[in-house]
Amino acid sequence: MFLKKTRIAVLVSGRGSNMSAIQNAIEKGELDAEISLVLSDNRDAKALDYCKEKGIQAKYIQPGLFKTKLEGDAELEYIEAIQKINPDIVVLAGFMRVVKPRFILAFSGKIINIHPSLLPKYPGLHTHRRALEERDKETGCTVHFVNEVVDGGKRIIQARVPIMPGDTEQDLAVKVLRLEHEILPKVIGMISRGEISERTCPSEPIQYTS
Ligand code: GRF
Repeated sequence: MFLKKTRIAVLVSGRGSNMSAIQNAIEKGELDAEISLVLSDNRDAKALDYCKEKGIQAKYIQPGLFKTKLEGDAELEYIEAIQKINPDIVVLAGFMRVVKPRFILAFSGKIINIHPSLLPKYPGLHTHRRALEERDKETGCTVHFVNEVVDGGKRIIQARVPIMPGDTEQDLAVKVLRLEHEILPKVIGMISRGEISERTCPSEPIQYTS
């Protein structure tokens, strides 16, 4: 029986390293899926150049008037563009805007986000700076399902890294990003194989060690 490939829509805002980590896993045969669409709220996102090179369908959609969220007609354009490819999973990968309930409803249970902290600690921005300010001994990243609470959805998997004396924000960003690139494709694989869904997601995230 022909099993259709898992179709992924990815929303990006910048470099798109998490998006390319997904594409790398696909090309290495580690992930039986395809990135069917990439949308960016930033016309200059490096991620769009990468998609052009790879022949991945990608486009910039004007995000609307607000800096921090998709609002009004813009959000509708994003929803319609994504619905056209009928995705199995919608991945927010370095997407710097909050998605509103209408977007969440349109793809309910299918949206995941990669966040650079050990949620529920440090939802929102500047996570590495906050971990340093709190003199935490460790930090990391989390993949979670997206609901209407910013960075508050069910946590699927986490990866940890020690904070060493002298580590700067940049040092942490580099160490954590490497782990992000491991756990995001892993989660997509688990979802595409039906091993986890928003409904069946346990209350505690899987603790990943590379
Ligand atoms: C990364 O720091 C990640 O933690 C956060 O967005 C940033 C950019 O990600 N989710 P990417 O390189 O654009 O995937």
